[in-house]
Amino acid sequence: MAEPLTNALCRRLGIRLPVFGLAHRVEVAAAISRAGGLGVYAAARDGPHELEDKLRLLRRLCPDHPVGVDLLLPTGLPGHNTREAVAAAVPQGHRDFVRTLFDRHQVPPATHGNFFSQYVRSQSLFEEQMDAVTASDVDVFAAGVGTPPQVLARARAAGQQTIALVGSVRHAGKAIAAGAEILVAQGYDAGGHTGPIGTFTLVPQIVAAAQGRPVIAAGGIGTGAQVAAAFALGAQGAWLGTLWLGTREHELPAALAAKLIAAGSEDTVITRAHSGKPCRVLRSAFSDAWEAPGAPQPLAMPYQQALTGELLAAVEEHEIAPLMYEAAGQSVDWLRRIEPVADVMERLVRETRDALRSMTPYMA
Ligand SMILES: Cc1cc2nc3c(=O)[nH]c(=O)nc-3n(C[C@H](O)[C@H](O)[C@H](O)COP(=O)(O)O)c2cc1C
Repeated sequence: MAEPLTNALCRRLGIRLPVFGLAHRVEVAAAISRAGGLGVYAAARDGPHELEDKLRLLRRLCPDHPVGVDLLLPTGLPGHNTREAVAAAVPQGHRDFVRTLFDRHQVPPATHGNFFSQYVRSQSLFEEQMDAVTASDVDVFAAGVGTPPQVLARARAAGQQTIALVGSVRHAGKAIAAGAEILVAQGYDAGGHTGPIGTFTLVPQIVAAAQGRPVIAAGGIGTGAQVAAAFALGAQGAWLGTLWLGTREHELPAALAAKLIAAGSEDTVITRAHSGKPCRVLRSAFSDAWEAPGAPQPLAMPYQQALTGELLAAVEEHEIAPLMYEAAGQSVDWLRRIEPVADVMERLVRETRDALRSMTPYMA
């Protein structure tokens, strides 16, 4: 296949296609890179030892192409905190509220934990996660929320190219000062932690603020026409999260996959109930409950996840459909079936080329 989409950013990173994919499954990230883009493994839900294993697996699944890893590094969290200490600070009224969700939806207790029921986010956890990242042979490091300069410096010293996700010109300035080499302009439309500025507005603002650094557009992208639009806005690539949830390699539980396939752009909500910070997720009985009259205000990070971790681990394990959700962007509208990563990539590339070709009349 001819590769007219290969641009300067692709050459810099050693990839063929300017399509970037973030996923919480190494199998998905590896498949994105094998398909010619850059797969970025979202490691924020891994403890340090698990992360070492995952990054080894990522390389084993993708030995011949660059791969990336992403961590969430919010500032202002406890330096070091045990789960017990954080859980003890959760008000009783909040615990009672979560108990009503267990009862109302007849959720049996979890028999095994997940990240949220075993860890709390703290600076010392981030450092241990970063030890695993710098000891690995991944090619690219992405900072999701927060860009601590010392963390980006560690990644660069380990030979990794550094990317920062930003949601405003102010964030971009901080990321540049912290040493980020490539910026992802992630707009309001995006799944996950998101700011208030829409992608179409944000991308040209970040391009103007990037001081020549490459910018990748993110948030709400589900078609090749939008990838072409990202180029028109000055971005050198498109960064997608939601669309990959609908891939075979993701192996989502059937009930969650069905909800995502059925969902349209109006079925996502921004809530603090997921992590304590504004996060766009698929609307569910969980997000509705926190919006209902009389519901308590979600707690700040990391207390909210310490509060809800056991419930959400049980919901996942027992597949309690009404409460199941994931982070998801307005792009969920284009998640219409479960298909292999390679097919999603092939469609995006074909549509991007069609969209670029359809613009030629404007050149006359
Ligand atoms: C399920 C899911 C999990 C995400 N987790 C992270 C994460 O851990 N770190 C991060 O930097 N971004 C995360 N994001 C945001 C993505 O990096 C990306 O910016 C966003 O998905 C783009 O918008 P889209 O969802 O419309 O494609 C997540 C997004 C989704 C959908």
